[in-house]
Amino acid sequence: MFQFTLNGRNVAVEADKNLMEYLRADARMTSVKDGCAEGVCGTCSVIVNGKAVRACTLTVAKVNGKSVTTSEGLSAREREVYAWAFGEVGAVQCGFCMPGMLISAKALLDANPAPTAAEVKSAIRYNLCRCTGYAKVERAIQLAAAALGNGGAHETDSTTGRVGERIVRADAHEKLLGTGEFVDDMQVPGMLYGAVLRAKFPRALVKKIDVAAARAFPGVEVVLTARDVPGERLIGHVVYDWPVMIAESEETRYVGDALAVLAATTKEAARRAIELIEVEYEEREPLLSPAAALAGDAPSLHPKGNVLSTTVLKRGDVERAIAEAKHVVTQRYSTPRQEHGFLEPESALAVPTQCGSLTVYTAGQSVYDDHREIVRMLGVAGEKVRVISKFVGGGFGGKEDMSVQHHAALLAWHSGRPVKLTLSRNESLRVHPKRHPMEIDCTTACDENGKLTAARVRLVADTGAYASLGGPVLQRACTHAAGPYQIDNVDIEGRAVYTNNIPSGAMRGFGVTQTCFAMESNLNLLAREVGISPWEMRFRNAIEPGGVLSNGQIADGGTALKETLLAVKDVIDAHPDAGIACAFKNTGKGVGVKDVGRVKLKVEDGRVVICTSAACMGQGIATVVLQIVAEATGLDKSLLTVHAPDTDVTPDSGTSTASRQTTITGEAARRAANVLKEELSHRALAELEGETICGEFDCVTDPLSEPTSSDKPNRVHHVAYGYATQVVVLDDAGKVEKVVAAHDVGRAINPNGVEGQIEGGVVMGMGYALTEEFAVRNGAPAVTYGTIGLLRSTQTPEIECRIIEKNQSELAYGAKGIGEIVMIPTAPAIACAYWQRDGKLRTSLPLNETPYRRSRVKEGASQ
Ligand code: FES
Ligand code: FES
Repeated sequence: MFQFTLNGRNVAVEADKNLMEYLRADARMTSVKDGCAEGVCGTCSVIVNGKAVRACTLTVAKVNGKSVTTSEGLSAREREVYAWAFGEVGAVQCGFCMPGMLISAKALLDANPAPTAAEVKSAIRYNLCRCTGYAKVERAIQLAAAALGNGGAHETDSTTGRVGERIVRADAHEKLLGTGEFVDDMQVPGMLYGAVLRAKFPRALVKKIDVAAARAFPGVEVVLTARDVPGERLIGHVVYDWPVMIAESEETRYVGDALAVLAATTKEAARRAIELIEVEYEEREPLLSPAAALAGDAPSLHPKGNVLSTTVLKRGDVERAIAEAKHVVTQRYSTPRQEHGFLEPESALAVPTQCGSLTVYTAGQSVYDDHREIVRMLGVAGEKVRVISKFVGGGFGGKEDMSVQHHAALLAWHSGRPVKLTLSRNESLRVHPKRHPMEIDCTTACDENGKLTAARVRLVADTGAYASLGGPVLQRACTHAAGPYQIDNVDIEGRAVYTNNIPSGAMRGFGVTQTCFAMESNLNLLAREVGISPWEMRFRNAIEPGGVLSNGQIADGGTALKETLLAVKDVIDAHPDAGIACAFKNTGKGVGVKDVGRVKLKVEDGRVVICTSAACMGQGIATVVLQIVAEATGLDKSLLTVHAPDTDVTPDSGTSTASRQTTITGEAARRAANVLKEELSHRALAELEGETICGEFDCVTDPLSEPTSSDKPNRVHHVAYGYATQVVVLDDAGKVEKVVAAHDVGRAINPNGVEGQIEGGVVMGMGYALTEEFAVRNGAPAVTYGTIGLLRSTQTPEIECRIIEKNQSELAYGAKGIGEIVMIPTAPAIACAYWQRDGKLRTSLPLNETPYRRSRVKEGASQ
């Protein structure tokens, strides 16, 4: 028997167990999150005898006789002050890390009520945050310190919710305090726990799967294999090529493939039983690189061969332009696989209902995507499945594909019991798609004045075992490969190639991150040849309104690349050796793909409920639509609520991808709100009780094809582009001291939200540049969550955001997507800073010969 105090109450625990498991499962402390269970992330932080510690590294025995405090144990005044401070500065995004941050903040301020900035940074160094970049968290802690030192006094909220105000996001408090639920926080009566058997080899023939021993294991309720899939066995976000489970007589394609799933009455029973399944394999030589997969004698991994897709983009006469150019540079660049690093591992809970249908609680990037794939797999009518989103603990593209939703649904369907399936951190790393590794050959030419005349790019992307979003990622890599410049001659070709590696798919930046690194690095070389500065090279070529982008689209009046360059000119003047890079990124899916935003406004109990399925993975779309509705209607924000995505209640507003939600769903919200405003001009809100108003925005664009085609020489591939310039200043030791990020956002609906995206994106881009690489060996992860290179608070520099608002478009009050572009120019800007300092061109990421990393770690046998 072990005894300790938990939030001031005496508790007794019979048998020893992991402290985090006890707090989450038995004591039901939802503020204690399981982000890794290996002592790396800090989401499970608690205070033991006055010190912040990670509960997953402790056992109940280790706290015997001690005092344990979780966020639930804070005093009412502390809760109010911390919630105010974190909300006020916009420190909360996905929120999964937040209760842990709060614990570290409390432990610090209890011991040191007036900490320095360095002490604050140090206090949260064991708490990873993938969303915020830490800056706003640090500001929140300073603000809380001041308020607590002042007896808890703090300003009151005077915002009304209009566009441009720094309103506190609606979910900030419950995320910070840990009272809001993520899927894995849910427990329902009779719930079973799911587990999945993964492939042992990246490529092997599965000859036999024997589940008898697992089925006989005490507590196991159901064991399923491929033959138990009642509907279509192949699913996929864009292409149906991904088996729900690998069948006997089929080959595995990567080490995350599922071979069998089961559900048991306890987590432990599920884990142990899954180990008992015996698989007879015939191991085969895996294809671990695009080169191997493209070899003439390579076996086909999919029926259509090993090339998933090809993108070609040609304008003008590149050969002639290169031949006539004054300066030409050619380089090969190599970019690595990168892990999203979201703090919340994938989790889904599927609950059968009395009428024979299924409700699935998920945390993906679209409840309608989840719905479509589950319905397809089960082979049932759409109304048999309802999908509801809980809070999403970060996504960054890594939660667009099915990971757990389909397996939880299948287990619940067969067992007739609720089933929760949550991936361990290692399983999560093994299963979900990563950023594409790419090899990029880039030739760029200019005249004697530095005017760019041609760009020729050839790239090969390792798209791994399944299509995921490999095709669209390749397209964006190619359409943005020549950068945000007017270049009349372009010749760009890319191929996405299937291999037996972990699939590559969507990740913030969506292919543009890779080609931007190549193009921007080539620009620096050309600038040196011409004898002008990297800033001048970019300014002379920057696209302006009326100019023609490399895909043939005419830049609209809201184009503000030059404004971003001018916004950082003072930094460049003060630090001529600073690094610089520009970028552009599409808003919306574009290229003729269906792209619809939908919002319903329901008047209920004297308030307006904003219903949309647009998923918030932390980026704050709920706050964006709320502010747009407040702006259009004039209603105070206290009268507005945003409903969580739910396929039975909220209309389909597409996936949270392609930096699309602010503009596409935001415009749908504006349209609905304009109708409501009209109604309110002759009726009181109370008179509209029970009524619903719908708003829809169908964003029509032109398909990607030869831009010089005579029918439409300047096609509109995207409804908008955001532009950016980032500048990087190194300190004397060669570390990144400061990043100045100037972003053309069209209109900042909530400046707190925009800054949060920029700061978090810059830190993610810095990791991509300097520390992050998802190494694989024989197709399997050769890393853990602790070794993928995620940056901590003490490693992050000062980040200064400079927001440019120029767009006159009426769509969503002119707001452009900001989610992805924030990290795109960071890596090339950092590379430029090192090149300016030592003259060495670094052609691969993460960069070699920096204080962060001396030399490249080889990727085992994978490349
Ligand atoms: S869950 Fe304990 S440190 Fe990550
Ligand atoms: S808010 Fe910190 S991980 Fe999302």
